[in-house]
Amino acid sequence: MDKRQSLIWMAVLIVLALLGLLIAGLISEKSAQAPAPVVSSGTPQVGGPFTLTDEKGATVSDADFRGKYMLIYFGFTFCPDVCPTELQVMTGAVDALGADADKVQPLFITVDPARDTADVMATYVPQFSPRLKGLTGSDAQIAAVAKEFHVFYEKAPDDSSSADYSMDHSSIVYLMGPDGKFLTFFPPGTTPDAMAAKIKGFMG
Ligand code: NI
Repeated sequence: MDKRQSLIWMAVLIVLALLGLLIAGLISEKSAQAPAPVVSSGTPQVGGPFTLTDEKGATVSDADFRGKYMLIYFGFTFCPDVCPTELQVMTGAVDALGADADKVQPLFITVDPARDTADVMATYVPQFSPRLKGLTGSDAQIAAVAKEFHVFYEKAPDDSSSADYSMDHSSIVYLMGPDGKFLTFFPPGTTPDAMAAKIKGFMG
């Protein structure tokens, strides 16, 4: 495991730890339903409002997707393998939902806005699914949304390819509810069928 991989794993572990705290927080809130005041301060939140630009160049915000589940993945179009794999899993899961597929909006948010312009996204996302939307933005907009989702990303030198640089980034698929709130996450290695089954479970 090289230094980059360790960094990514560290970031993944931190996210998992935060999610653990979040889940523990939710469980403790549920079990303490009585008259006791709900103490939730300090519980890490996953997700939040964002304003970005879609692959058509239009400004979009999280509020535009209210009423739909959002399936969100952060990555970059130059990514040789991890991102394409996860985007295939995500879009495969949505397709596997059949009649319920329209209730889910898959979103790919770039962590490399310098190269992933709306035009680049417009040629990239349809390779996976006509349902997939590709979101980019200013450095500040991307930094803000990544922070809300506890996504780690960092430029890394890339001598092995013609690209100037690569991006190290955490690789987690997030499921947000129709109210925009965090529901669950899927680690790398989740199959499309398993992802679809879990999403279906939330639809009740
Ligand atoms: Ni990637």
